[in-house]
Amino acid sequence: MQSLLDEIAAEALADPNPGSVASYIPELAGIDPHQFGIAVALANGEVYSAGHAEVPFSIQSVSKVFALALALGRVGDQIWRRVGREPSGLSFDSILLLEREDGIPRNPFINAGALVATDSYLAGSQPREALGELLRFIRAAADDERIHINERVAASEIETGHRNFSLAHYLASYGNLQASVEKVLGTYCHQCAVEMTCRQLALAGRFLVDAPRMPGLVSVERRRRINALMMTCGHYDGSGDFAFRVGMPGKSGVGGGILVISPSRAAIAVWSPGLNRYGNSKLGTEAMERFAHRTGWSVF
Ligand code: DON
Repeated sequence: MQSLLDEIAAEALADPNPGSVASYIPELAGIDPHQFGIAVALANGEVYSAGHAEVPFSIQSVSKVFALALALGRVGDQIWRRVGREPSGLSFDSILLLEREDGIPRNPFINAGALVATDSYLAGSQPREALGELLRFIRAAADDERIHINERVAASEIETGHRNFSLAHYLASYGNLQASVEKVLGTYCHQCAVEMTCRQLALAGRFLVDAPRMPGLVSVERRRRINALMMTCGHYDGSGDFAFRVGMPGKSGVGGGILVISPSRAAIAVWSPGLNRYGNSKLGTEAMERFAHRTGWSVF
C-alpha cells in the first residue's frame, strides 16, 4: 500500500495542470494548487499516507457527511420529510429545483439540503453547542482531539455567502427551516470551516466502514444509507462520473478534499486544492481513479 500511495502522490505532484482553486470564499482563494496528499485508514488499524497528507485543509462540503450523521442521530428518519435522496444533476449551490419542488432539496449533500441537515442538528440548541457536538463527533471518529474550526474561513464565507443566504431564505419561505437564517448559516459556515489533514480525515471516515474495530457512531443501516447517498449524490452533477471512474462512495469539498469509503476495507482521504468543472478536486479525482484501478476496490 505504501509504494502505491507514493507512486500516486508522485504522479499527482508532477501534473502541470492541477485545476483552479475556488475563489468565491476569499480566505481559500490564495492556496497553492500544487499540493497533493492521500491517506488510507485500513480496517485492521493500519494507516498509510503520502504527499502532503499532514497539511491541514478546509474540509468544506465533506463536513456534510458528518452533519448528516449528526442530524440523523438528533431527529432520526424524520429528516427525510424535509430533504430528498435523489441526485440533483445540478451544481452544489443551485436554487433552481427548490421552487419547482416546494422547498424540499433533492438531497442532503447539495447546499440547500445541507442547510436542512444543519438546521436539524441545531434542533433548538445554540450554534455553539451544536458545533461543539459536531466537533465531538468528528474528534471521536478520528480519535483526535486536535481537530478544530478555522474561524477566519468561517467569517470569510459568512461575509460573501449571498447564495447560501438566498437558499436559506428560500427554504425558510417554504417553512423548511426551524432556526433563523442567521443561526443556520453561521452554524453551516463554521461546520464547513473544520480543518483536517488527509490522515485525520481518513481516520474520521472509519465510522462508515463495516469492520469490527471501527468507531461505532452510527447504526449499520445508517452507515449503509450514508454510503449510498455518497455514491449517488456526493459529487453533485459529477456524481455519475465519479461512480463511473472510481466506483466507491465519495464526498467532495470545494477545499479540494474527498473522503472515499471502501465499504468493508478502508476510509481514504485525498486532497488537492485545484478543482475540476464540477467544483471537485481535479487531481484528487484522478488519483482516486488510479487508486481504484490498481487496488480493484470498486464496489462493482
Ligand atoms: O457552502 C459552500 O458553498 C461551501 N461552504 C461548501 C461548498 C462545497 O464544498 C462544494 N463542494 N465541492
